[in-house]
Parts: sequence; C-alpha cells; structure tokens
Amino acid sequence: MTEPGWDPIAGHELKRLDRLFAEDPERVPRLSLTLGGLYFDWSKTHLDEALLERFVALAEARGFDAAREALFTGGVVNPSEGRPATHVAERGSGDAEATAVAGAGHDRMRSLVDAIEAGAFGDVTGVLHIGIGGSALGPDLVIDALGRDAARYDVRVLSNIDGQAFEDAVVGLDAETTLIAAVSKTFTTTETLTNLSAALSWLGDAGVEDPFGRVIAITAAPETAIEFGVDQTRILPFGEGVGGRYSLWSTVGFSAALALGWPAFEELLEGAAEIDRHFRFAEPRANAPLMAAFADLVGTQLLRAQTRAIFAYDERLRLLPSYLQQLEMESNGKSVTADGQPLDRMSAPVTWGGVGTDAQHAVFQLLHQGKVVVPVEFVACIEQEDGLDDTHHRQLLLNAFAQGAALMTGKVSDDPARAYAGNRPSSTILLDRLDPRTLGALLAFYEHRTFANAVLLGINPFDQFGVELGKQMARAIDDPAERAKFDSSTRALIERAGL
Ligand code: F6P
Repeated sequence: MTEPGWDPIAGHELKRLDRLFAEDPERVPRLSLTLGGLYFDWSKTHLDEALLERFVALAEARGFDAAREALFTGGVVNPSEGRPATHVAERGSGDAEATAVAGAGHDRMRSLVDAIEAGAFGDVTGVLHIGIGGSALGPDLVIDALGRDAARYDVRVLSNIDGQAFEDAVVGLDAETTLIAAVSKTFTTTETLTNLSAALSWLGDAGVEDPFGRVIAITAAPETAIEFGVDQTRILPFGEGVGGRYSLWSTVGFSAALALGWPAFEELLEGAAEIDRHFRFAEPRANAPLMAAFADLVGTQLLRAQTRAIFAYDERLRLLPSYLQQLEMESNGKSVTADGQPLDRMSAPVTWGGVGTDAQHAVFQLLHQGKVVVPVEFVACIEQEDGLDDTHHRQLLLNAFAQGAALMTGKVSDDPARAYAGNRPSSTILLDRLDPRTLGALLAFYEHRTFANAVLLGINPFDQFGVELGKQMARAIDDPAERAKFDSSTRALIERAGL
C-alpha cells in the first residue's frame, strides 16, 4: 500500500470489539449518529479513535472535500464519460442547468400524474412498469415498501426478458385499463424493448385500439423513443447526467409517484435532500455516509472481507438488498482508478443479504462460525405498523439486536463445534418509522456512502463499462457468422439447446 493516506491505515492493528467497548465507555455515543428519523450505530465495527483520525486524514489526502463539492456543483465527477452526475439536482442541489432540467422533468411528471388522476387516460387501474436495472429496482423498492396499503394503482414491475416474467407480471391486470410505463435511459436495452413489444401485443390482443396511446416512455433519449413509436406528448425525459442506478428521483420514479401520490413522492425527494445537505456540510466525524464508508473500508482493507451483507428486519424493505447490489456493485466493482491506473487494493465487496428473521435460519450459521468475515448491516424500523399485537414486531427488533450482539461477543465452549469466535462486525440503521421521507433519506445515505467509498479508493462510481462486453457478446452470439468465433464449450451449449 503506497498511496497517500493508506499506509497508516494498513499499519493499524485492530483490537477486538469487546476490548474496544471495555476501553471506552463512551463508545456508543462516539460511534453513533441521529439524523432526522434515522439512527446509525457503528460501535460494533472495528473503528476506533486512532483509525478514525487516519481515515479523516485519508479523506483529506484523497481530496474528498473537493470531490464532494464537485458532485454538488455539477463538476465532472464521471471522468471516463466526461460528465457530471446530476442525481442530486433532482433533489434541488447542483448547477443551474441540471436543476432546471430536473425541475422541468418533475413538472411534466406531476402534470401527467394529475392528468391520469383526472381521467385523461380513461379508467386506469393498473400500470405495467417495464425497465431493468436502475430503471426498475428503485421504483420497485419504493412501491413495495410504501405502497402496501397506500398504492392507488396496481403497479407491476417487469424487468427480465424471460417470458415467464412477462406472464407473471400481467396476471390479473386488465389490459383495457392498464398503462405501460416504459423506462429506459438509453431506450436501446434489449430486455426493455422486447418486453415493451410484448406489452403492445398484449394490449392489441385484448382489443385495445391504440396500444401506443397507452404507453408513457421515460428516457434520457426521447428521439430514440419516438423512433420506436412512442408519441412525443407521452415522453417524460430526464437528464443524461442521471445514472440509471441513481435515477429513482427523476422521472424514472413516475410509477412510484403515480402509485403513492405526488405529495408522497415529494416527501421522498425531501428526505433525500436532507441527507444531501447533511453529507455536503457535516464534519467527517459527524457525517453519516462518510462514517459508513470508513466502516466499509475497515471491512475490505483491514479485515479482508470479500462480501458485506444487509439484512432488513422489515418485510417492507425486502427489496433493499437487491437495490443495493446494483448501487454498490455496479458503482464500485472496479479494478482501475478514475485515471485508469490499476487499483492495488480491494474495491467493492460483493453486496448480498436478505430479510430477518428468515435469514437467521438459513445463512447466519456461516456468519457466526464460517471461515470468512462478513460485515453485516441490520436495518430496522422502530414503529410497528402491522395490525397484529406487538409480539411480532417486538421479537423482530429484539432478534436483530441479539444477532448483532452475538456476532460481536461470541461464546466460549469446550466443544469446538459449539464455540463462537465472536469479534464479527456489524452496524445497525434504525428508522423511527418507514415513510417516504425516511426511505428517501435512507436511499440517499446509501448513494453518498457509495460515492464516499469511491473517492477514498480513487475510483469512478458513475460508469459501468463492465456490463458492455456481455451485451456485445449476447448480440454476436445470435449472428451465425460471429457464432463460429465462440469457444467450443459455448458452441456446444448452443447446439444442445437447439438455438
Ligand atoms: O446493463 C446495465 C445498465 O446499463 C444499468 O446501468 C442500467 O440501470 C440498466 O442497464 C438499464 O439501462 P437503461 O435504463 O438504458 O435501459
């Protein structure tokens, strides 16, 4: 490790977690933070005073303040594509041009939501949201988390090219009263266009006279959508600087705004904006995304963790791990620095996870006794909102807290099979309650944490060239001339499948 700021961190000797607690009675207040309706606890990670000082020095050495300011002022934070990242403009921060584009997008989206509510599209009961990756995961999570009792429309999110997924998605939808929201930044994504064509046929087969008249396209490439056949009056554009995995806040959130209502969508944006202000101005030691990034880097750089796991102890957040997989792995799963040099350290770990308590009965064995260290994050909500007596919610939360304590303290036993080494790190995020504002804040926190990790590692979190080769080869494999150039294993698979 030779880069500025990293040597002192690499040389730091980690203490056991129980010792860190024994040595510092103030550890919890020192390593926790309350922010609006969110509480963060990093005390069960291996961060300590000396390490924090070194991480703060690392941030300085990596030009963190300037990088962060560039994010909020429209600087080119995505150098490989030569552009800014304008998702914060969707929440009101950023340069004048990006915030104007975002504002115009929101105005148009709001008018369309109002028009649909006012009956401009006749009777509407359902929405088939078609998109993939960042054009699906955010809206899907938000609608699933917040729309359980509140959704005004039956929204189905369809992403996979698998026809089974299409068939599942339309079960029970009435084609006559369903709108299609086709979401694609590029409007060239094979899965989305194939599913959109299938949806148009589905509408036509059901007797809808003008299937294209039911399609709303959400895209940063309006011309391409028009070429596909979408009427320009039904296009909701968004800015080129909004990356797919950061796009929920833009017109990509249309299905969520429609399902939850405009005021709820605005609350989601405001929750995110609060975190923007916090991230931009808070001191490093009181800065939630930056502190979380420090804890992440202890995991990957010092504990050599190859994965990190998120367990939502709230069924409404069951899609959070999938959303974070794209956010973190597509952003920071890189092997070169922003200026193209080989990265000589671990970048993003594999993000995975599930819901508690289910996961306790499936994967926690390895977390407690396996040979690999997996930093765990627990996410839970204090307020009970199910209609049952409090047994369920109480047990849910107590289980989350007990797991964190067990990972840390472990257990001594004469029987090696029954011994727990402990000293396994975890962090906890507690939401006072799950509502649009706290969910917006939570997701913006994760975005900024991802950005902070990238800056400290020196990588560009806003490109994703790693997905291109597979797309190119998926096109080539369908061309008989190109196919001959594929390896013998792949050719044998094609032959066996009769393709
Ligand atoms: O293949 C990855 C990716 O480009 C993601 O970055 C993106 O969120 C997704 O595909 C969908 O892309 P689009 O919105 O252009 O259809």
